[in-house]
Amino acid sequence: MRTDASLAKTLQQQRSPRLFWAAALLSIATMPAQADGDPARGKVVFARCAACHSLDGKNRIGPPLNGVVGRAAGSVAGARYSSAMNDNHAVWDEQALDGYLAAPAKFLPGTTMTVSLPQARDRADLIAYLKTLQSD
Ligand code: HEC
Repeated sequence: MRTDASLAKTLQQQRSPRLFWAAALLSIATMPAQADGDPARGKVVFARCAACHSLDGKNRIGPPLNGVVGRAAGSVAGARYSSAMNDNHAVWDEQALDGYLAAPAKFLPGTTMTVSLPQARDRADLIAYLKTLQSD
C-alpha cells in the first residue's frame, strides 16, 4: 500500500509534469559544472587569468587567486576592488565562482573584471584547479 506522502508526491508530479521535467533537466544540466573538473586542464585555462591574478598571495591588477575557493569576496587586504565587490560579502564557493566566471557583469553588476569563461567545461576545470591551491 502507498503511504500518504508518496501518493501526494505522485499527485503533484501528475499535476505539473512540465515543472517536474524542467527541474529534472535543470539538475542534470547544472551538474557537470560542479562535478569532476580536471585540475590539470584547469591549470592550462588559468593562463587566461595569469596576466592579472597571481597564485602566490600577491596583488596584481586583481587579487591573488590561491585560496579563493571558500574565501569571502572582496576580502584580500590591499587589493583594488570595485565598490560592487567590496560590498559583496558572499563566499566564493564553486557555484558562485561558476556564475561569476560565466558572466561577471551579470553576476555582479559594477564589477571591474570583464574577462569571462563562456565554456562550462573551462570553468569546471579551472575551479577544480583553484581548489588544489592553498592560501598560505
Ligand atoms: C584584465 C585583468 C583580469 C583578468 C585577465 C582576470 N581578472 Fe579576475 N579580477 C580582475 C579584477 C580587477 C578583479 C577585481 C574585480 C572587482 O573588484 O570588481 C578581479 C576579481 C576576480 C575574482 C574575485 C576575487 C576576490 O578576492 O573577491 C575572481 C574569483 C577572479 N577575478 C577570477 C578570475 C579568473 C578565474 C580569471 C581567468 C579566467 C580572471 N579572473 C581573469 C582582473 C582580471
